Amino acid sequence: MTRDGAAEAVASGQISELFPPSAVGDADGRLSVAGCDLIELAQRFGTPAYIVDEQALTDRAHEYRTTLAAAWSGPTDVMFASKSFPCTPVYRTFAAAGIGCDVASCGELAMALRGGFDPSRILVHGNAKSAEDVRTALDVGVRWVVIDNLCDIDRLEQFAAQRQGVLLRVIPGIDAPTHDAISTGGHDSKFGLSLAEAEVAIARLRRSTYLRLDGIHVHIGSQILETPPFAAAVNAVSTLGEFEVYDLGGGLGARYTYDEHPPSVADYIGELTRAASTSLPTGSTVLVEPGRSLVARAGCTIYEVQTIKRPASPEGHTLVGVNGGMGDNLEVSLYGTRFEATMAARSLGAGTVGERCRLVGHHCESGDCLIDSVRLDSPGVGDIVAMPTTGAYCYTMANNYNASRRPPVVFVRDGDARVVVRRETIDDLMARDV
Ligand SMILES: Cc1ncc(COP(=O)(O)O)c(C=O)c1O
Repeated sequence: MTRDGAAEAVASGQISELFPPSAVGDADGRLSVAGCDLIELAQRFGTPAYIVDEQALTDRAHEYRTTLAAAWSGPTDVMFASKSFPCTPVYRTFAAAGIGCDVASCGELAMALRGGFDPSRILVHGNAKSAEDVRTALDVGVRWVVIDNLCDIDRLEQFAAQRQGVLLRVIPGIDAPTHDAISTGGHDSKFGLSLAEAEVAIARLRRSTYLRLDGIHVHIGSQILETPPFAAAVNAVSTLGEFEVYDLGGGLGARYTYDEHPPSVADYIGELTRAASTSLPTGSTVLVEPGRSLVARAGCTIYEVQTIKRPASPEGHTLVGVNGGMGDNLEVSLYGTRFEATMAARSLGAGTVGERCRLVGHHCESGDCLIDSVRLDSPGVGDIVAMPTTGAYCYTMANNYNASRRPPVVFVRDGDARVVVRRETIDDLMARDV
């Protein structure tokens, strides 16, 4: 593509479709998000850094809320699947946006409470909940504990001192088309009970003194790019009888690359609620639990180029080494997630202009590759690379491999930027050593 053609690509929004909706490039393709220039953010806060468009989080929560409320005739709620971005500023943003949240440990529960969620808006998951997880959930008085297995019933009955609402997680027997590690609805899933076992659990819960079975939970996996499996899951759980509440899980995919086209929130909710209207009781409460599709696009990561290695043969890739990698983004190594990236100063024609590069991290293994093949426009040492769609599960799984310090989270809004999670320090790395 020529430079002029590339300018059209930016104008038509190709790169900004992956970055937060507020992202724009100037005439040279220099990128800013929510009015904040990415290169200036790199100078001010250092790299790598997670840059998050705060308003994009709120807007997406509202999109989910209003779409679901309009599509279903009974009560509805949206629960932020908080494993996708668990830090108190994000909990605070979603609590203020009026949605609920799910947590999967007493640690996430503590953060959700600190972030301002009322216990009545929280539900608790876990396929191997500890006594501490269960006790904390009961003490706090969360809205629902999700029963994943019969041991959960034993443990909840052991500790409950008053009535506790529960949902029952069911395996619908649906292998969603996604990476095996994030597929959770197949017959051999470690999460939930088969339909046959669920009948046993339902009978037990109906006899329980302290546990009140309010409904059914189903979640078939993550990064799912088509809608029919969601409808199939609804139909599968409808065979268990009638309940007041149906939590239909999360799982809608995010758009990571130019060639991926996930269903919209409206398409996804439309499919779910059409299935619900034919197979679930009218007037029942329908919940959804999005994580990835709620937060992925709001975030991007900025890195600084440290090294460039030119290929020995013309077919080879230029290796562009940055000061991050699998320490701040495990999605690539764990699930083979494909990302895009661009030079923050030169995003015109991103994806089509520039030399073919392999974007590699600084960790001590060959698997530490952020993007196997991406066109970057004239990358040079010291330049800033911006990688879109890193709002989901990147912060979550950030780690200290090679004693790298986990990056800060910087919220941007209306031209202002503020650190909401600071960068780790060398002292932090040793703070737990005794
Ligand atoms: C029980 C449950 N609900 C919701 C989610 C959120 O899924 P996603 O981030 O794909 O929307 C997950 C994550 O896999 C989950 O395990």
